[in-house]
Amino acid sequence: MEKYIIKGGNVLSGEVSIGGFKNAALPIIAAALLTEENVVIDNIPDVKDINVLLDAISEIGAVVKRISRHSVMINAKGIYSTCLENDMIKKIRASYYPLGSLLGRFKKAVVPLPGGCNIGNRPIDQHIKGFQALGAEIKIEHGMIIANADKLVGNDVYFDVTTVGATINVMLAAVLAEGNTVLENAAKEPHIVDVANFLNSMGANIKGAGTDVIRIKGVKALHGTEYSVIPDQIEAGTFMMAAAVTKGDITVKNVIPKHLEAISAKLAEMGCKLTEGDDYIRVNGNCNLKRTKVRALEYPGFPTDMQPQITVALCFAEGTSIVTDTIFDGRFKYVDELTKMGANIKVEGGNTAIVEGIDKLTGAQVSSPDLRAGVALVTAGLAADGFTIVDDIEYIERGYEQLDEKLRKLGAQIQRVRDDKEIKKFKLKAV
Ligand code: EPZ
Repeated sequence: MEKYIIKGGNVLSGEVSIGGFKNAALPIIAAALLTEENVVIDNIPDVKDINVLLDAISEIGAVVKRISRHSVMINAKGIYSTCLENDMIKKIRASYYPLGSLLGRFKKAVVPLPGGCNIGNRPIDQHIKGFQALGAEIKIEHGMIIANADKLVGNDVYFDVTTVGATINVMLAAVLAEGNTVLENAAKEPHIVDVANFLNSMGANIKGAGTDVIRIKGVKALHGTEYSVIPDQIEAGTFMMAAAVTKGDITVKNVIPKHLEAISAKLAEMGCKLTEGDDYIRVNGNCNLKRTKVRALEYPGFPTDMQPQITVALCFAEGTSIVTDTIFDGRFKYVDELTKMGANIKVEGGNTAIVEGIDKLTGAQVSSPDLRAGVALVTAGLAADGFTIVDDIEYIERGYEQLDEKLRKLGAQIQRVRDDKEIKKFKLKAV
C-alpha cells in the first residue's frame, strides 16, 4: 500500500497550477451519454474517480478516447447496455450520475448504490424523489438502483435539503423530458452552473443555474460539443491552506477567484495577506494566525470539502477556534489522527470541533479516513516537526493529481513510498 512520507518544517513558496474540478468533471462525463454525437471534454483531472467513471462508461459501449492527459473524446452512440456493474464504480460517489443521464436518454438505467467517502449518512432520497416526479419508477434491489420509465415528463421538484448530487442528477434526467421542469431549493455550487453550461452547449435549455430555482425546458435531442471544465476550487483552497500552515507564500494559478471567496475571506480573517488577479490568488501566510469561527455551509458558504484543511490551519492559530460542519454528520473522523500529532481538538455532537491553538504539531504515522481529511493530514505533516507518514493515500489520489509533485515544486519534502526500505531511504536523504 502506498503512503506519503513528509519531513515537515519547510516554508512553501512559488506558483502552482490548479487542475480541472473533479466534482464538475464527473457529472459532465455522465452528461456526455445524453447524445449520440462526439463530445470533447478538456481540463479533466487525471485522478482515480474520473478514470473509474471513464472505464465504466466504456464498458457499456461508449467510445472513450484520451486526446491528451487532460482531454477526452466521448461518443455514446453505440451504448448497448444501461446497466453499470463495474466493481470499481461501486466505490465512487459519482456512480449515481449515469443514472440521471441513462434514464434521460434511454428511459431505463441500473447503477450500483453509491460508495464514496465515509463522511456520515449519505442518503439518495432526493435523487429518487426527483426521478419519480418526472415519471420514473425506482427500485433498490441487490445493492443496485433500478430506474424505468415509459416516458419522462417535466414537473416541479422541491428538494427537502439542498443537495449538489440530486440537483445535478435530476437536471441530467430532465433535459430530454417532455415539457418543463422546475427545480426548487436547488444547490448553487459552481459545478451546478458548469454542468448546466455544458448541457446548454449541447443544445439543452436550462435557465437559473447558480440560483435556487432552475428551469429546464425539455428538448428532443442533444448534440456534440467541446467544453472545458472549471478549475478545482478545493484543490486551490488546499494549497492556500498549505501557505497558511507553513508560513509560506503560494500563488494558485488558473483559478476563478470568485469561487474561492469564502476561503479567501477566512484566510484574510486569520491574518494571511491575499492578493488577487483575474485568474490567480497569492496567499502570504507569514503571520501569527488568528483564531476564527468556521461554519461549513452550502455555496456561497464555506465549503465542507475544505473543512478538514482549515481545521488543521486553526491548530496553529492563537486561542480557541470553533469549526462546525452543517453538511455532513461524520466529517471529523480525522481528528483522532490529528491528535496523534499533538493537536488539541474536541469534537462535540459529531459536527462541531473546538480547536485549541498549539505551538507545534509533531510528526506521526496517521491514516487517511477520506479524501479531504487525508489531504488535511498531509498539510499537517508539512508544518509538523519531524517525519509524518500518511497511510491509505488511495483516498487522496481519488481527487488530487500529482499532489506530492506539486508540493515538492513548492519546496516541500514529501515522497510517495511503498515500503520500509523506501521510507528509510527518504529519511536518510531528508534535510
Ligand atoms: C458532493 O457530494 C460532492 N461529491 C462532495 O465532495 C461534497 O462534499 C458535497 O457534494 C457537498 O458539496 C461529488 O461531487 C462526487 P450533497 P453529494 O448531495 O452530492 C444530504 C469530495 O471530497 N442529502 O450535496 O453526495 C446529504 O446527506 C466529496 O470531493 C440527502 O439528505 O453531496 C448531505 O447532508 C466528498 N438526500 C447534504 O444533503 C439526498 O438524496 C448534501 O449532500 C442527497 C443528499
